[in-house]
Amino acid sequence: RLQTVYTVITMAFPTHRPRRLRRSPVLRDMVRETTLEPADFIYPLFVVEGRDVRRPITSMPGVFNLSIEHAVAEAKQAKALGVPSVILFGIPDHKDARGTQGYAREGIVQRAIRAIKDAVPELQIVADVCLCEYTDHGHCGVLEGGHVANDATLPLLAQMAVTCAQAGADIIAPSDMMDGRIHSIRKALDECSLVDTPILSYAAKYASGFYGPFREAAQSAPQFGDRRGYQMDPGNAREALKEVGLDVEEGADMIMVKPALSYLDIIHRVKERVDLPVVAYNVSGEYSMVKAAAQNNWVDGDRVMMEILTSIKRAGADLIITYHALEASKLL
Ligand code: PBG
Ligand code: ZN
Repeated sequence: RLQTVYTVITMAFPTHRPRRLRRSPVLRDMVRETTLEPADFIYPLFVVEGRDVRRPITSMPGVFNLSIEHAVAEAKQAKALGVPSVILFGIPDHKDARGTQGYAREGIVQRAIRAIKDAVPELQIVADVCLCEYTDHGHCGVLEGGHVANDATLPLLAQMAVTCAQAGADIIAPSDMMDGRIHSIRKALDECSLVDTPILSYAAKYASGFYGPFREAAQSAPQFGDRRGYQMDPGNAREALKEVGLDVEEGADMIMVKPALSYLDIIHRVKERVDLPVVAYNVSGEYSMVKAAAQNNWVDGDRVMMEILTSIKRAGADLIITYHALEASKLL
């Protein structure tokens, strides 16, 4: 009898066999905890002046500087693939110290918003609000004594938000990291009867080397110094929660963490802390590393792309801003 019991135990060992649920693709699909869909993505577009411009960005294979009509075509493609939203970055022909073209009624981004809204009305247009693409010095605000002046920048950001919303932007996304900008922007929108325009705050935005390729795409590299005086230090997590808390208090409707991959812990913590949609920005450098490695056949590009996007969603992101949006949607 003892012998029998012993046999049963050995046959049943290991008692727990998680591999049972990994035996077939169908079964694996059934028990997958995190799935991706095109509706998770926001697709970035870089709009430039001129006609018939579709200029490749060297450091971001597959991404282009687009004149307005090409941006419209790309927006239509996003819609057709089930991607509900685009985020727009404008690159003006003329930059100045105060970033005037960023908040001009006929600025490049305002005209692009109108054109896309007109052609694809259901597509949600997110307007990135920041001055760095529009200032000749490349900083995200105006300068006073060689420093980015916080309070003097706020009215300009508010004006950019208003002109973008009036042009038809559905969501305003300030990425400048000035203190108090959510409050200033909310107040300005409300005063212009834009009470229903939501704000997606780049609340936890780190001073990151992963923005390198974006600065080629947007021609927005700072001409002196860096952005460490206003963007966050990569070593800080508690501070991210503080930034998020302040932006929620000031009236943010959605919260962003940026970049995504080196900050999955921040995405997770923000998601646990706030009851608002959490957006993660899978930034340019994260995209370009995948492309570079895939071009060398060092990794399977499609596979790591999907793995990366899945990890960002698994960490807690409700939405992902990603240059992979269209290619990933094609695979889904
Ligand atoms: C502008 C802005 C940046 C990005 C989004 N908005 C660049 C920066 O802060 O230097 C980065 C996006 C990317 O790298 O894909 N403030
Ligand atoms: Zn900026």
